Formats: sequence, C-alpha cells, structure tokens
Amino acid sequence: MASYDRIAKLSLDRGFYFPSSEIYSDSMAGFWEYGPNGNNLKNKFIELWRRELVRRDDMIEIDGSQIMSKNVFVASGHIDNFSDPVIVCSKCKSTLRADKFIFDKTRINVPEGASNNEVDEVLNQNNLKCPTCGSSFQPTERFNMMFKVGIGPRNEEAYLRPETCQAIFVDFKRIFKIMRGKLPFSIAQVGKSFRNEIAPRQSLLRLREFYQAEIEVFCNPNELDSLSKFDEIKDTILTINDGSEVFKLTAKEAIENKIIPNKLIAYYLSILNEFYEKTGIDMNQTRFRKLSDKEKAFYATIAFDFELKTSVGWLELVACNYRSNYDLDQHSKISKEKMEITDPVTNEKVLPHVFELSLGIDRSIYSVLESSFFDDHENDRVILKLKPYLAPILAGILPLVKKPELGDIAKNIYHDLKKDFDMYYDESGSIGRRYRRLEEIGVPFAITVDYDTLEDKTVTVRYRDTMQQKRIKMKDLKSFFVENKDP
Ligand code: GLY
Repeated sequence: MASYDRIAKLSLDRGFYFPSSEIYSDSMAGFWEYGPNGNNLKNKFIELWRRELVRRDDMIEIDGSQIMSKNVFVASGHIDNFSDPVIVCSKCKSTLRADKFIFDKTRINVPEGASNNEVDEVLNQNNLKCPTCGSSFQPTERFNMMFKVGIGPRNEEAYLRPETCQAIFVDFKRIFKIMRGKLPFSIAQVGKSFRNEIAPRQSLLRLREFYQAEIEVFCNPNELDSLSKFDEIKDTILTINDGSEVFKLTAKEAIENKIIPNKLIAYYLSILNEFYEKTGIDMNQTRFRKLSDKEKAFYATIAFDFELKTSVGWLELVACNYRSNYDLDQHSKISKEKMEITDPVTNEKVLPHVFELSLGIDRSIYSVLESSFFDDHENDRVILKLKPYLAPILAGILPLVKKPELGDIAKNIYHDLKKDFDMYYDESGSIGRRYRRLEEIGVPFAITVDYDTLEDKTVTVRYRDTMQQKRIKMKDLKSFFVENKDP
C-alpha cells in the first residue's frame, strides 16, 4: 500500500487530481479538480456502481437540482441540525473544528451527537489550548455547514444541497407513480454535494464540493424480512464491527445472530460489499461499523459505515443509514403534500421507510488509487494495478520504433479501436519508457506493432502486471478487448 504522499504526488504529476484555481493566491482549500486520468477513472467507477448496484437491482436513476429551496432544508432538518462544533481562541481568534482538533491531539473521538457542553468538557479535561497562542478557547459554538445562495435580484434564500438525496425524497411520489413502482423501490443519483467544511484537508478525503452516489431504498416497514432476493446474497461474507466485537460471517448468519436487524438491510449491505470487491480494494481491510446512537446522523435510526483501512487510518466510504420515514414525513409536514402511497404488493397505505447507501465517490477514488499502487522494485517501475474496467485507458498502441511503415499501421489500429475503447497512441521515446508511462497510470495492456506485423498481421499484447507478451492477430484485437474490459 502506498502512502498518502505518494498518491498525492502521482495524482499531481499524472493528472488524476489537483487543486482548483491553483494559479491564484486566493484559491480556497477543499476544492479539487479531476484531470483527464482522474476523470476517466471516476466515470468508470460510476459505471461500475451503475452496473453492480443500479442495474443489478433494477433501481431508477435521476438527476436533481444542486440548488434547492430553503423549505427543503427546513423540512430535512439541515437548517437546524447540520452543524459542526467550532472553537474560537479567546485571544488570537484562531477558529478550529473542535472534534477534529480533539482527535488530532488526543485520539479521542467526539461523537457527532455530542453537545457543546460535552465538547467543552473534553477540552477542559485534556487541558487543550489554542495551538497558535496557547490561550483558552471561548465556549464551543455551532457552525452550519450548508452554503447559502441568493437567487435572482431579490436574493431569495436557497442552499446548495449538502446531500444529493433530498431531491429523491421530494420527487419520490411522482417517480413512484410514473414508474408504476412496487416496494421496495430504489432511486439512485450521482452528483455533487456541497459542505462548508471548517477544516477541509487531505485533498479528496475532505472536500467542500464533492461527488456522492446515493441510493435510497423506499420500503414497507412491515415487510423488511420478506425480501425474496435475500437468497441471492445469503452466503456473502461480511465483516461487521458492532461497536464492541468484530464478526466475519455470512449475511444469513448476521441475521440469525441479530447483528444485522433485517433481511432488507443485509441484502443492500451485501450487494454493496460485492460492488467494492470488484473495485480491487483489499476487502480484508474493510468493515461495516455499526454506529452508536451518539455517532449517527440526526436522521438515522440505524447506521453502518462501510470503512476501509488506508495509510491515513480508517476511512468512511459509504454511510448506510436506516432513515425510517423521517424525510418523507418531514417533507409532508412542511410542504403539506401527502407522501403516502399504496403498496401494490400488500395493498396497504403506507408512508415508506428509507434505507440509504450514501457513497463518497472522491474517497473511493482515492482508495482505489492507494490500493492499486505497487512499487515493483525488481523491475524498477511503479504500477497502478487498476482493474481493466476502471483503468483510465484500456491500452496503449505503440509502434516499436518511430518509422512510418510501423507508425501508419499503429495509427490505423488506434483509429479503429478508439471508437469503442479508451486508447492511447504513443510513438515518442524508447519502448521501455513508453511502457513505464502507461503502467504508472494503470493502463492494463500495451499493443506493439513491429516488423513481424508487416509480415503476418499480428501484434504483441503486453500485460501490465506480469509483463508477459503474446502475439495476436490484428483482426482479433477488438474481440480481445471486449473480452477483457468488463468485470
Ligand atoms: N445522505 C447521507 C449523507 O450525505 O451522508
């Protein structure tokens, strides 16, 4: 596994991601851009998510607004509750996020639900002072993390969404009707969310503008254990930390032992687990951690975080929240629109409950990069062992030497294949250097055109990880890539 710094350097040097507005002195922390390789990797990660979760489970996908009206967030509770504890130095006025500062100094985790007084108590008990001037802090305050925006000439109050899912809740009834839905009914969405973090840091790991892939499963609370598709995943092995002990067991055993409360939650945790297996991260370093009441978000009644152990510690990649009917009920109360539907399976009138899988795309991209980074000292090279279906480029097309008779054939292959696959043509530098450049950004195959190609119309396919080579016919390249590009 690579260190955070190696990944940061590779990302800057090879165009995976870099800071936004970086040529300006007033560029702000917490905003990053994906370069060409990062953007391709991100898009392929999202495609895998669609394939393994959205299409697998017949979910519906929508694309909602990023700015929503004030009442949406009055209803959702974000205006009242979506805040972090802030401490301000009584002398130099340095402002810090209290829970992060406490964790950095003492490794004590202040839970999400801790009151201001409880935060003050931890600060006092540990005699924590301002890191800049050594003075005491003023009493802890709350800072709402939503970005407020003014709409139109009258500057009407609205907000950039802090989670993508509010559009899903607001739109639920319309979508359920037009799609002739049946419970459980899942709506998915990929897009940006915005949080005015007090202390953004570590590039993609804590951003102010970030990508989420969220899935909201609307369900009948009386039918959580009548999910026939549970049988598909009953033998999936899950690692679960229930707050005191770690269990490695099948989904079926997790239900029998009441470590997961019902089949619906077990099913969605399992297909999420199976999706991450396909990303290539080390599943032995992952766990579902059951959150205590104090750690849960304000809308959640049961919560598991899917976490990966990385070089910077455990990283939450997905928040899996049972939100009950909290959101639909709140939107119904504030908007006065009825949100109940008739469950066509049971014929019951019901205000559905929601189980969500809220996936952080940027953190997942970082995790995939860190997990695939490999220092091959023996061969003096760095490789990203990305899965072919996640690699930013599937193959490099390389004439062995820069000669027109080889270059023309290689360019023809490139033009032919680039319509269907992400290809890269490179004729500059020694063949060894060209292989190294491809390996460093995770390109799984290199196609070399040489003098034998002129004779027998074959090319060399070189495999990134093993460096093995084989000859294949030029006319078979397309089917080779079709076979090798998918999970
Ligand atoms: N929708 C849950 C979250 O953003 O964490």
